[in-house]
Amino acid sequence: MRIIKAKDYDDMSRKAANIMASVITLDPSCTLGLATGSTPIGLYKNLIAAYENGNLDFSKVHSINLDEYKGLSGDNDQSYRYFMNANLFDHVNIDKNKTYVPNGLEEDSDKACADYNEIIRSVGGIDIQLLGIGGNGHIGFNEPGEAFEKETHCVDLTESTIKANARFFESMYEVPKQAYTMGIKNIMAAKKILLVATGSAKADALYKSLYGPITPNVPASILQLHQDVTVVADEDALSLIKEKGLL
Ligand code: PGA
Repeated sequence: MRIIKAKDYDDMSRKAANIMASVITLDPSCTLGLATGSTPIGLYKNLIAAYENGNLDFSKVHSINLDEYKGLSGDNDQSYRYFMNANLFDHVNIDKNKTYVPNGLEEDSDKACADYNEIIRSVGGIDIQLLGIGGNGHIGFNEPGEAFEKETHCVDLTESTIKANARFFESMYEVPKQAYTMGIKNIMAAKKILLVATGSAKADALYKSLYGPITPNVPASILQLHQDVTVVADEDALSLIKEKGLL
């Protein structure tokens, strides 16, 4: 596992974007595993800038996103499809037909998940999987306690997540109660993993994930068993690891 220290959020975003850009440059028809959340937004901005400068070509790239809310269409501004269009796809020359997000409108969970696993296989697997990390060590919607063996599956959102999301919707009825997420097994099958973390709220999760016991209670701890992981984290996110004298 490589740990790349960044000064702050902008530095982290630039360094992580350079790694992803190098994968695209070396293999223009690669498959990117992409993530939503606030952490990758700066990375995506850097990729857009590289495209605008003529340094990156997305025309042959495929992308596979980690997760999507069940019940939301891609035009809903809370959906992860909408997020990806707004933060990356609408600004580069990627073919949207080659970009995949779980089908939130598929009501049959087994079918939605089986279809997604098949999509991942049909594009030949993921060359580089981008991950953020939750304050509790979650990756995608794989929350503490989830089995490591799972592929794409449907998860029940926690009561606190549902309540936190309620403010974005007109009625409680519209707030998603479930999500489809790639499982740890899909994530571990990616050839490379790029984990990005920023801010002191991630310091504990990062320390436990990189140096603690490997346990489903800290989902990201499984990454210790992957052979090609790069972590790009800023000083705040690395603060506890540094305090323990491990960096
Ligand atoms: P964040 O989310 O980037 O918005 O902090 C990360 C995550 O929960 O995976």
